[in-house]
Amino acid sequence: MKKTIIAPSVLAADFSNLKAAITDIDESGAEWIHLDVMDGHFVPNLTFGPKMVADLKPLSSSTFDVHLMISNPELMIPLYAHAGADYITIHAEAATHLHRLLCQIRDLGKKTGISIVPSTPVSCIEHLLPMLDLVLVMTVNPGYGGQSLIPFCLDKVKNLVNMRKDNKFLISVDGGINEKTAPLAREAGVDILVTGEAFFRAADKKSIVKLFKGMEI
Ligand code: DX5
Ligand code: ZN
Repeated sequence: MKKTIIAPSVLAADFSNLKAAITDIDESGAEWIHLDVMDGHFVPNLTFGPKMVADLKPLSSSTFDVHLMISNPELMIPLYAHAGADYITIHAEAATHLHRLLCQIRDLGKKTGISIVPSTPVSCIEHLLPMLDLVLVMTVNPGYGGQSLIPFCLDKVKNLVNMRKDNKFLISVDGGINEKTAPLAREAGVDILVTGEAFFRAADKKSIVKLFKGMEI
């Protein structure tokens, strides 16, 4: 059986104690740390910038999965690269010259990711798939944690699985992942589950990670 990677999002953590949040993630069995960067422009919410990523980086050896929900990402990509991002994911809807930005991310030695919001079809990134390490399928409209998964987004995951062929990119879903939706996402063929509220609300984080992976508790 394929192993599912779990990527808890610090968006749902207590921002006054992010060090504890990183420890919780690392001790839970989750492999990645998802960092939701929001600019109050591309999405109607504001979170944190590159300094936060740089300050958190030394606390963990987990993969730093930086999700840029920002306009004009070309201006900020170098800052997040230097801050310690491993994967830098930009939104297809936030940039015109996506190919150029993927080259920029690669030239900085980072893994490339593109995210698409629910209303964006996967066909819009078809020609870029060979350049991608990650496709992040938003399963809610980005901007807030704790929303409900929009079911048709999982059809887009299935489309991507069919389009993957010889390409090596990973498929991640982000938004509304919980006990009910995680199995549906796994069945659709995802490699990575991002989880905010469900992870940080769980009293037993090791169990929720196992549950999301489809392992016996
Ligand atoms: C939403 C963010 C998500 C969010 C997921 O804009 O990109 O990463 O934190 O949170 P939950 O799991 O609470 O839907
Ligand atoms: Zn995210």
